[in-house]
Amino acid sequence: MAKYRIAILPGDGIGKEVTEAAMMVLEKIGLNAEYLYGDIGWEFWKKEGDALPERTIDLLCSTDVCLFGAITSKTTDEASQELGPSLSEKGLKYNSPIIRLRQLFDLYINLRPCKAFSGNLLNYREGIDLVIFRENTEGLYSGVEFHPVPLEVRRILEEYNSNMKRFSFAGNEETAISLRLVTKKGCHRIVKKAFEYAKQFGRKRVTLVEKANVLRETGGLMVREAREVAQAYPDIIFDVANVDAMTMWLIKNPEQYDILVAENLFGDIISDLGAQLVGGLGFSASGNIGDRYAIFEPTHGSAPKYAGLGKANPLAMLNATVMMLEWIGALDCARALERAVRQVIIQGEVRTYDMGGKASTTEMAQAVVKEI
Ligand code: NAI
Ligand code: MG
Repeated sequence: MAKYRIAILPGDGIGKEVTEAAMMVLEKIGLNAEYLYGDIGWEFWKKEGDALPERTIDLLCSTDVCLFGAITSKTTDEASQELGPSLSEKGLKYNSPIIRLRQLFDLYINLRPCKAFSGNLLNYREGIDLVIFRENTEGLYSGVEFHPVPLEVRRILEEYNSNMKRFSFAGNEETAISLRLVTKKGCHRIVKKAFEYAKQFGRKRVTLVEKANVLRETGGLMVREAREVAQAYPDIIFDVANVDAMTMWLIKNPEQYDILVAENLFGDIISDLGAQLVGGLGFSASGNIGDRYAIFEPTHGSAPKYAGLGKANPLAMLNATVMMLEWIGALDCARALERAVRQVIIQGEVRTYDMGGKASTTEMAQAVVKEI
């Protein structure tokens, strides 16, 4: 029996192409694994009215980890229009499969390494080596939202918070509310994981990115929890930065930062900024990680305009594969693949269009395979 059972979800568009590239390197690297392919994405929404069929969830439950390509998502209206004829009458509602997976498997960490390699001439800046820990399940993306605002909700808000009076000019139809909901448990565990990672990999500094001077209650809870967690790691520097200032500092001197930890929305924003600092969507990968299961993916989407053209840069997917190998504990394979990817970038002979070259997805994958 194989040592690892790995779920492979190619998804839509270039997701399929970069997944093929990942399979080429996994085969070369000789990981002792069984690969189980699952259905996910727009194709299944149109055909079956479910972008994440139950059988795919069952498949994931039977595996150790998942590698995910990318999917296409569209607005609620477009989703309804594109449903197959026998399904359109059923009142089905489109839900983002990746958000569902994060919730189902409690994948509370969104891990985003941002490391620069010197051969990537279009984007290179010396010394950037950030790791971002984004809280993945709560905060402003909790999904607790109202529009129109129910009468009862409004009445209670007015009763408990005098600031609500300022909005009496807008009726319930003209008001929308998205709740920034954070819990002590949610704050604690994401910060704890950031410090544990820092300790494990000899990192020197953890910076909490917040806005506690304005978002006093949610930001305040996060800062208090983080300070408490930090006490157990006296050798690691801990500091707090405001998210708005952080976007400037990350552009000005990104090499000065080490580990960043943030609530969902702030983490989302700084991780895209971090991705661009080290080469953009062709390079950036992320892990959705819980205590028992994890899903690794490139940060990019299905890039419909490049689908089927074989132009997409597979390095983001290969970086996701490195993260997956690390997480399952196949460290030798992870190091070998990481080294090969780095070498191919540094040599700069094989470059996809986003790196200023003409190489295809497959040619890039072959270059990495050769380097392994
Ligand atoms: P996208 O990431 O798919 O593409 C944006 C642009 O970035 C592309 O047009 C291309 O110029 C460039 N790009 C992306 N990946 C690249 C790669 N590997 N190599 C070279 N260039 C690359 O984002 P977009 O266009 O906003 O969304 C397209 C679809 O993907 C939408 O349906 C969206 O909902 C979905 N999406 C899915 C995600 C996921 O599956 N996790 C994440 C982001 C978007
Ligand atoms: Mg994002």
